[in-house]
Amino acid sequence: MEQLIPIVNKLQDVFGAIGQSPIDLPQIVTIGSQSSGKSSVLENVVGKGFLPRGTGIVTRRPLVLQLYNTSNHSIPTSPNAISSSLRNEWGEFLHLPGEKFYSFDEIRDEIVRETDRSTGRNKGISNKSINLKIYSPRVLNLTLVDLPGITKVSVGDQPADIEDQIREMCLHYISNPNAIILAVTAGNTDLANSDALKMARSVDPEGNRTIGVLTKLDLMDPGTDASDMLNNRIIPLRRGYVGVINRGQRDISQRKSIKEGLRKEMEFFKSHPAYRSLQHRCGTTTLAKMLNSILMHHIRDCLPEIKNRITGMMADIQQELDALGTPTGDISRATLGGSLLGLLSKFAASFGNAVDGKGSSAD
Ligand code: GDP
Ligand code: NA
Ligand code: MG
Repeated sequence: MEQLIPIVNKLQDVFGAIGQSPIDLPQIVTIGSQSSGKSSVLENVVGKGFLPRGTGIVTRRPLVLQLYNTSNHSIPTSPNAISSSLRNEWGEFLHLPGEKFYSFDEIRDEIVRETDRSTGRNKGISNKSINLKIYSPRVLNLTLVDLPGITKVSVGDQPADIEDQIREMCLHYISNPNAIILAVTAGNTDLANSDALKMARSVDPEGNRTIGVLTKLDLMDPGTDASDMLNNRIIPLRRGYVGVINRGQRDISQRKSIKEGLRKEMEFFKSHPAYRSLQHRCGTTTLAKMLNSILMHHIRDCLPEIKNRITGMMADIQQELDALGTPTGDISRATLGGSLLGLLSKFAASFGNAVDGKGSSAD
């Protein structure tokens, strides 16, 4: 099933090239209160430290992050990226086309710079997204969105209605019926007060595409634990909750690696008596697996509609080509038609009956 996503990404590129975006691609979106750990969760899922994180308002513009797995499909590479195996992962920003970032620290610096560019340095916010693509043989094929957290009181250059503005921004992304919502709540706060759960419920009342993520389980008061929440007993969600532990502020200051963080997380859950029987609900790895599986099902469910749209477009293009008499009249359209045809046949090959909506729902 994993081959599916490069094809969908490719489709998006092709449609993007002609100025249409007929495909509502699944995106994974984190929402929650400020400093609940949204950026940390995304970083852990990606397995790369490159997002600005910290106390206070750090994420001030939406970051749309497209991950491309480079191990099973070919993508264009620049000459200096080809030979060195150390240089097989890099990031590229939409606002800096063609410039490859091989250092994740530099990616983080550029996110900070680009954030400041449109919002100033004094805690201002903007709904203009920063778009970053990461190419790597070691990532799952996912599109993720990191959003500013809900805050109640404006500080610095923030508008008086900052809470409404951020809420609007979040709603924009999570209203997309194809968005998978990671509703992040710190485990050491009250679930009933969760901004994330409230917002998620407003756009996804059935809970079909919401996962509850409980962070900071390491910071809960001694003698308390998240087992009732993880057992879905407090505020039930259809897909339930996953408990995670991200790197804390001290870990960030000491530049502790993600790998080290994940090792400590696993150790914590394995050794804690309350979580030993809840391993299937604990840990970043569990979350990543859940996400991948949900994403695959999402895409599969979208295929019939995507196919209809492509078929419709193909008919239009064919008509135009026919009207032109010969395809030499408009090479770019002809090339596009050919490439869409190629993609269609890849779709057919990958999914067989599933494309026609006749496939079984088996994995
Ligand atoms: P965001 O504002 O929701 O994006 O939150 P960040 O990811 O920037 O994290 C805010 C602060 O909380 C940072 O200092 C993180 O190190 C810390 N933090 C996040 N998750 C955890 C966690 O699970 N455990 C601990 N101890 N600290 C965490
Ligand atoms: Na923060
Ligand atoms: Mg953040």
